[in-house]
Amino acid sequence: MLAAIESLQVGALQSLAAASDAAALEAWRVVHLGSNGSLKALMLRLKEADKAEKPALGKRLNELKSGMEAAFEMRRVAVGSAKVECPLDLTEPGTAPVDGRRHVLTRTIDEITEVFARMGFSVVEGPEVEDEWHNFTALNIPEGHPARERTDNYYMAQQAGTRRLLRTQTSTVQIRAMEVMKPPLKVCAVGRVYRPDTHDATHYSMFHQIEGLFVDRDVTMVDLKTTLLQFARAYFGAEAEVRMRPSFFPFTEPSAEVDMKMPVKGEWKWVELGGCGMVDPNVFKAVGIDPEQWSGFAFGLGVERIAMRKYGIADIRWLFENDLRFLRQF
Ligand code: DAH
Repeated sequence: MLAAIESLQVGALQSLAAASDAAALEAWRVVHLGSNGSLKALMLRLKEADKAEKPALGKRLNELKSGMEAAFEMRRVAVGSAKVECPLDLTEPGTAPVDGRRHVLTRTIDEITEVFARMGFSVVEGPEVEDEWHNFTALNIPEGHPARERTDNYYMAQQAGTRRLLRTQTSTVQIRAMEVMKPPLKVCAVGRVYRPDTHDATHYSMFHQIEGLFVDRDVTMVDLKTTLLQFARAYFGAEAEVRMRPSFFPFTEPSAEVDMKMPVKGEWKWVELGGCGMVDPNVFKAVGIDPEQWSGFAFGLGVERIAMRKYGIADIRWLFENDLRFLRQF
């Protein structure tokens, strides 16, 4: 009798594990737990057992019964036959999927880079954690220059004699490009830059710049202005204009601030976008390019400025809060 209990237990659990749909489960239930099933048959045999063994055998049979019932329930849930009791109502209205989209800044970056790529600029990249050579020295910003002040930069702890910092400008990528590419070269780079600043509607300690660099023979300011104007018209529309105001940057000579006339909430307005100029001979010397042979122009524009004016975004912080109610508008 004990052997029969044992073998039913093993056999029934094995065939239960093999039942993989509702019909197979129901068949298993009839064979094993039904009123003429194997379990019932064993229980009837209890009468024939020795009186002394009956209590132990009875207990064992009850354990078997509850074990098989529990195993059946678990299997039923696992196979999903429970679902049959609440079939899918195909007439119910569906839920509309929420469509994803690129962040408004990502979109702006993609659009701007596409225009420059069409104008023949290859897209290059540089690291956000930089050394002082690429962020300052090679860009003609000498030791002791105010731009290197602790309070204006995110310096990191010194490691093996090198002090690193979060780059403050994408002009670092000009240096990296010229270190590995021989002129003529025409590259642009977009990325994050970092400056310690108190956050308000127009300031944030991280923002994006797009940098351009063109090095060839006999490059002039005319090439620079033409390039910026071509970009402005391709990106903002045929009525766009470019204005250059004399300025100073250590890495260009002469240097200028760049304004573009662009549509701001439907009206064409002058907006200050960044800086530009002719690559300073000292910068060429730092990367081993002969300034007697080569000349070039460079520019750097603020991406947030472009996006904020173009889409009428009044507060730069909204761009980084990731509030979907804001982001879904674009
Ligand atoms: N790096 C400058 C800044 O962050 C912008 C800039 C000015 C970039 C002149 C240039 C340039 O390439 O030629 O303010």
